[in-house]
Amino acid sequence: MTKKLRFGIVGCGVIGPFHAQAITSLPDAELVAVADIILERAQELAETFQVTPYSDFQEMLAREQLDVVDICTPSGLHRVQQETGMKMAVISQHRFDPDTVKVHELIEEQAFGRLVLGNALVPWWRSQTYYESGEWRGTWKLDGGGVLMNQSIHSIDLVQWLMGPVKSVIAYTDTLVHRMQTEDVAVAVLRFTNGALGTIAATTGAYPGTGTRVEIYGDKGSAVIEDDHLSYLHLARDDGEGVSPYGATREQRAPSSPGGPSAAQNPAALAIRSHALQIEDMMRAIRENGTPLVDGYAAKHPVEIILGIYESARTHKEVTLS
Ligand SMILES: NC(=O)c1ccc[n+]([C@@H]2O[C@H](COP(=O)([O-])OP(=O)(O)OC[C@H]3O[C@@H](n4cnc5c(N)ncnc54)[C@H](O)[C@@H]3O)[C@@H](O)[C@H]2O)c1
Repeated sequence: MTKKLRFGIVGCGVIGPFHAQAITSLPDAELVAVADIILERAQELAETFQVTPYSDFQEMLAREQLDVVDICTPSGLHRVQQETGMKMAVISQHRFDPDTVKVHELIEEQAFGRLVLGNALVPWWRSQTYYESGEWRGTWKLDGGGVLMNQSIHSIDLVQWLMGPVKSVIAYTDTLVHRMQTEDVAVAVLRFTNGALGTIAATTGAYPGTGTRVEIYGDKGSAVIEDDHLSYLHLARDDGEGVSPYGATREQRAPSSPGGPSAAQNPAALAIRSHALQIEDMMRAIRENGTPLVDGYAAKHPVEIILGIYESARTHKEVTLS
């Protein structure tokens, strides 16, 4: 029987319990300890999952012989993979959503033809109370940015993963609704290295908040992913006679392929599913001495796009990414 990998979590705030659930849903993973500088938070989570609580993560590392450390502390406290010999994965769980993986495979098969346009829309709501719930939220130093760096990074990652690398950006950002250092609204125009164009529009000031949308358009197909669900897919290769020179009729615009399962069927399972899939990918990398799909280098791409957007908004100039 395969030995279970021993996990410890550092940071037991909002997302820590979610990771605990994802880890414990995997048969080959074992959560053994959790740590938080606020001991009561560690104790509460430890009690739920019957593991050992620590207030000092160094002590947890020294005592628990962990195979995997799952870091759920404020973003600015994370450190990037160097020459440590350790493997690192950055959580980008939507890359593991089965519908998104399907679109990625179709793009690799050239099923969309020439890619022309890739858009990400993140019209979310976060209250002022949310930003005041942790001193790090909405700060340059520890959140690294606002709606782009915190809430939209996954959608930006998907657009660049699906469309290909971004060559340059032009953008506006502003802070219109909240008392915070960083932006709560942003729009950016992207030029991809393959010549396609794209947009990012994001805010945490859109009450009450609606779903995320990632749109991929090519001259042989279109796909729309709403949250983690493929709501529209239409490929020329599935059409008998094709569409008229003026495009599809209303009837022809019906999706040629139904989307995946709805979150309504089992919201809790779907909520942790993609995290669990990414944790499994990390376990595979450890067992096979391979590389996780989203290692530190892969995770830099959306960060570089966002930093380019900040620079463009500050300088009012197009920014070319290196
Ligand atoms: N992938 C996603 O969808 C997703 C969703 C939410 C949050 N996140 C990310 O998860 C991270 C945590 O976010 P959150 O909302 O849970 O924050 P949070 O403020 O609710 O929780 C952070 C916890 O870390 C603890 N902490 C701080 N320094 C520590 C240290 N040195 N040792 C041990 N514990 C320490 C704090 O006491 C707190 O309990 C952030 O990077 C955030 O961007 C990702």
